[in-house]
Amino acid sequence: MKTLFFSAKPYEKASFNEHNNSYHQQIEYLDTHLGPHIVNAVEEGTFAVCVFVNDRLTPEVIEVLAAKGVKVIALRCAGFNNVHLDTARRLGIRVCRVPAYSPEAVAEHAVAMLLTLNRKTHKAYNRVREQNFSLNGLLGFNLYGKTAGVIGTGKIGRAFAKIMQGFGCRVLAYDLFPDETLKQAGVQYTSFDELLQQSDILSLHCPLTPENRYLINEKTLNKAKSGVTIINTSRGGLINTKDAIEALKTGKIAYLGIDVYEQEEKLFFHDLSGAIIADDLIQRLMSFPNVLVTGHQAFLTTEALAQIADTTLSSIAAFAAGQDPDPARILV
Ligand code: NAI
Repeated sequence: MKTLFFSAKPYEKASFNEHNNSYHQQIEYLDTHLGPHIVNAVEEGTFAVCVFVNDRLTPEVIEVLAAKGVKVIALRCAGFNNVHLDTARRLGIRVCRVPAYSPEAVAEHAVAMLLTLNRKTHKAYNRVREQNFSLNGLLGFNLYGKTAGVIGTGKIGRAFAKIMQGFGCRVLAYDLFPDETLKQAGVQYTSFDELLQQSDILSLHCPLTPENRYLINEKTLNKAKSGVTIINTSRGGLINTKDAIEALKTGKIAYLGIDVYEQEEKLFFHDLSGAIIADDLIQRLMSFPNVLVTGHQAFLTTEALAQIADTTLSSIAAFAAGQDPDPARILV
């Protein structure tokens, strides 16, 4: 019973191989991402495909998987906007994910991006290596006393909110389902508009859905404070990049930190250092001194990788044994 991995990276293979010592599953790794171009290469009788954020499981791809006899799509991530769940459901393919793998890893990366931007440590690092100890251009701002607006207070948003409280920030939150424990801890839930109007820092922690695509756009940015800092470790499609670029030009956005990008599947997780990048939007973004881009690495800690491997392998083992894994992991 084989599981075929797509988009497999060396650090993932190491972690999965180590944890597979307890599961003894047949695993085959492919570097390429899953999409219409490669799906026909899946061998008949493959039990599961294991995919990551930028594999594209369109209806067409899932139809081919079903025809090959694939029984399980195992997402080794939390977000699932890249899988057409209705098609999987219709064709009887089970879909599972890793609902939580160290939410603190992602929250801490969001904070790392924020601290890099507000204290310009990325510039300082390069500067002192050239023996330039001048402080000109390194002026930052305190987090203490600022208002941080958290959009989406699930596992990651909650962890982020608590860290921001530790900095002495006033923390506002917007979520369709407010969290009672956060309220008791002093986090104030507001409407989305109020959150925009009052926050010095906005951090996105909600999933990407058809309803909230381009949640941050020209119209919503107009409601935000002038000089706002925006951090997005959630999904690129939550921000209209063109509108964000315009807002950076006017100073409406003073700092932007993104670990995710709406066209990231063509770029992220690949070494393109020798390539010509045709995507003018990301090139424009990276040209701003007050924009920090990381390539979807917020999850990348040893602890999170261990959790991803163990949860994924145990879900596949449960399906193979004719059982259901923990309901929180099941999408279909
Ligand atoms: P979660 O499911 O625990 O929480 C999501 C929260 O967002 C829920 O409370 C939900 O009610 C809320 N929400 C849904 N739609 C909303 C909307 N339109 N406006 C405001 N709130 C809304 O998810 P978790 O684990 O906190 O992850 C959040 C997102 O982070 C994931 O969907 C994924 O896109 C992203 N992520 C990014 C990673 C990275 O490495 N950059 C790694 C893991 C997750």
